[in-house]
Amino acid sequence: MNQNLTGKVAIVTGAARGIGFAVAAKLAAAGARVVVSDLDEAATRAAADEIPNAVPIACDVRDEDQVKALVEQTVERCGGLHLMVPNAGVAKPMPLTSMSLADWRYVTAVNLDGVFLSIRYAAPAIIASGGGSIVTVASVTATAGSPLIAHYAASKAAVVNLTKTAAVELRDHGVRVNAVMPGFVETPLVTGSVETFEQQLGLPAGGFAALIEQKQGRLGTTEEVADLVLLLADDSTSFFNGAGLALDGGLTASLF
Ligand SMILES: NC(=O)c1ccc[n+]([C@@H]2O[C@H](COP(=O)([O-])OP(=O)(O)OC[C@H]3O[C@@H](n4cnc5c(N)ncnc54)[C@H](O)[C@@H]3O)[C@@H](O)[C@H]2O)c1
Repeated sequence: MNQNLTGKVAIVTGAARGIGFAVAAKLAAAGARVVVSDLDEAATRAAADEIPNAVPIACDVRDEDQVKALVEQTVERCGGLHLMVPNAGVAKPMPLTSMSLADWRYVTAVNLDGVFLSIRYAAPAIIASGGGSIVTVASVTATAGSPLIAHYAASKAAVVNLTKTAAVELRDHGVRVNAVMPGFVETPLVTGSVETFEQQLGLPAGGFAALIEQKQGRLGTTEEVADLVLLLADDSTSFFNGAGLALDGGLTASLF
């Protein structure tokens, strides 16, 4: 299938690296004008430099004023908004019993408040631009318990429900809202957590890789997630609304 996003304007948060960068590049390759957004000004600019016609706008998704300004500046500079991908997320794995309230609030602020604010401010702009699509980046951890990531998994489960609720509220205004739910994907978020997982779960060195191979065959790639985001962003999937689509090599399909 050949998605054509020519004439569309998209925002991707957390787009300086990992899944967000792959999504931004993929949307741009399909013809969209993409606003690349991340926490850090320099990283945001560097990522945007690698994507044709991209616009860098730094934004901390935890900050309401910054998210509002991100949307306003996008509309001002690009003439409208049609696609929003609230992708920014953090993990910080640790046992539940040593998790501080500050740890909990940090992870849920980025992963859940950030998605709420992104939808809250993007939706009116998308409606004013004639309609479009929002694709949230949840996780398979939304569907079952996973050790060491109570804050992360809870935030992702909430994102899935927020996605469904937004889909129901916004459908008649021409905005579709869907979630992608990746399994483990090769990005700094995962590679930076391997040692903690191995230590805390009592796995030998290399044990995390073996677990991934057993559970989902291999790590997913950022390209694979980006392909699904692109599909959901495109009008060819206009009957998808409120969906949470897992791409996980069978991880959530299996008991053993
Ligand atoms: N990698 C995986 O296995 C995996 C699986 C399922 C879901 N996800 C989700 O995909 C999304 C992207 O993850 P990734 O693996 O590419 O991670 P990553 O760590 O490679 O990239 C995350 C990006 O988000 C940015 N970010 C962090 N806090 C931010 C904030 N407050 N405001 C704006 N940007 C901020 C970071 O600077 C970074 O560029 C996250 O929502 C993550 O939960 C990842």
